[in-house]
Amino acid sequence: MTARLRLGVNIDHVATIRNARGGGHPDPLRAAEIAAAAGADGITAHLREDRRHITDDDIARLRERIALPLNLEMAATEEMLAIALKHRPHAACIVPERREERTTEGGLDAAGQIATLTPIVGKLRDAGIRVSLFIEPTAAQIEAAVKLGAPVVEFHTGAYAHFPEADRAPELRRLTDAVALAAKNGIEPHAGHGLTTANVGPVAAIPQIAELNIGHYLIGEAIFIGLDAAIREMRAAMDVAR
Ligand code: PXP
Repeated sequence: MTARLRLGVNIDHVATIRNARGGGHPDPLRAAEIAAAAGADGITAHLREDRRHITDDDIARLRERIALPLNLEMAATEEMLAIALKHRPHAACIVPERREERTTEGGLDAAGQIATLTPIVGKLRDAGIRVSLFIEPTAAQIEAAVKLGAPVVEFHTGAYAHFPEADRAPELRRLTDAVALAAKNGIEPHAGHGLTTANVGPVAAIPQIAELNIGHYLIGEAIFIGLDAAIREMRAAMDVAR
């Protein structure tokens, strides 16, 4: 038996819809409450430099009012470091960020940014925040995570999710190998990006993966079946695969 796979629900796109009109509806906090009731193990939110979805106030309210662990996705900047140290989320996942991208389009180049990342990872760790690096599933990036002393890596599954089922095998192998290498080095592997109930199975079946972070599909599906049902369906798909 492998350990239960945790599900982190990313609520960014509830804020995207809210911000399309301004005002307060739909409120990502309410989404977090529904996620908690539907069995989510954590809430993930990305405070972007341009605040296009989640805002500083959302982070403050999530910390105050939601009991589930908060995983704050953040760029490796002094501004975000200060915000993380102020709010002290359970975890901070360092992601690459470019203003012009629609979403986080690839993993963090941890190997190429050791000097920038070292003090940021150190200060987050010193504050008791669990640091995760959102990286591509490659040996070079895992080596960098080891050097940086990151306890967690989240593997970017965008390349895997991009392929139709028939063409997925090479990406799945790359992910499976990377997960094994991270675990062998004492790093807890997580995964996320582009996961749906249709493609989550083979990822959820990789036994060392401890957590999946899923957002866009769940919020999109919530339009049709409701957030509670969307999360429960995802949970069921993950459990069947395990
Ligand atoms: N994990 C990280 C680090 C991310 O940046 C994102 C996207 O914001 C996700 C998981 C979730 O990806 P998706 O919204 O495609 O499910």
